[in-house]
Amino acid sequence: MAYHLLEGKKGIIFGALDNKSIAWKVAERAYEEGARFTLSNTPTALRFGQIDELAEKCEAEVIPADATSVDDLTNVFERSMEVLGGKVDFVLHSIGMSLNVRKKRVYNDLDYNYLKKTLDISSISFHKILQVAYKLDAINEWGSVVALSYIAAQRILYGYNDMGDAKALLESIARSFGYIYGREKKIRVNTISQSPTYTTAGSGVKGMKALMDFTGRMSPLGNAGADECADYCIVLFSDLTKKVTMQNLFHDGGFSSVGMSLKAMKMYNKSLDGDDEDVE
Ligand SMILES: NC(=O)c1ccc[n+]([C@@H]2O[C@H](COP(=O)([O-])OP(=O)(O)OC[C@H]3O[C@@H](n4cnc5c(N)ncnc54)[C@H](O)[C@@H]3O)[C@@H](O)[C@H]2O)c1
Repeated sequence: MAYHLLEGKKGIIFGALDNKSIAWKVAERAYEEGARFTLSNTPTALRFGQIDELAEKCEAEVIPADATSVDDLTNVFERSMEVLGGKVDFVLHSIGMSLNVRKKRVYNDLDYNYLKKTLDISSISFHKILQVAYKLDAINEWGSVVALSYIAAQRILYGYNDMGDAKALLESIARSFGYIYGREKKIRVNTISQSPTYTTAGSGVKGMKALMDFTGRMSPLGNAGADECADYCIVLFSDLTKKVTMQNLFHDGGFSSVGMSLKAMKMYNKSLDGDDEDVE
């Protein structure tokens, strides 16, 4: 259902690869809500992904960019302002990749060149996007910038590896740059910490199926899906959240606040004693 929350707003969406991508769902919702935007991803992703299908559906121009390249990002912002006819109101950073995860290098045997790439692609690219936009003065007052994070920034989740460090840095960049953007330009910068979600990036995490099962059972509302994450992004891009900034906002069905759940307690008792104990 559309609420016209982004009527007249312009934006840039980084990271839509295929129809499972969180950024893909955000683009579909933003279009439904009345926004006009450009899409960006790496040349490789443009070749192998399905972004043209999305671009056609959303009447969006696709601008290739490796988000680790300041020149590429400058081109994305300059071209977007040209195509959209002025500054943008929202930006989505939905970018993440770890070669250590991909190549199965565990945390106590990291390849440091891979680690540098992980941080550059998954975190520093966010700083680069914010700095390029700042220098070009490319975002309107009361605009909103959102990056997608994960609770591995605060807690250890087996298999997430160096991406936990990348997310911690990403969230810190949102606070540090959010302060400057808020003070000088009245622009919001936040991260959304999303439930595990079955996407190309998500499915690369070791034990993803078991992790999703665990977090789903532990969360009182269950895991948040990609469509629901898109809804939350839309609200953060809208004028309904004008004073929300420098926050890491959990969108995880309550998982981040649960220590022991009723289901987990029952399982624990069962496996210890072989029978059900009374639990309230
Ligand atoms: N899937 C999950 O479980 C989950 C949970 C929490 C947060 N997130 C985060 O959500 C974001 C989007 O991931 P997703 O799950 O939709 O997976 P996805 O694989 O669909 O998206 C990741 C995107 O990053 C892009 N990318 C990789 N290297 C890049 C580079 N150098 N320059 C520009 N783009 C590059 C990929 O092309 C891809 O489009 C990521 O930041 C991810 O860490 C995902």
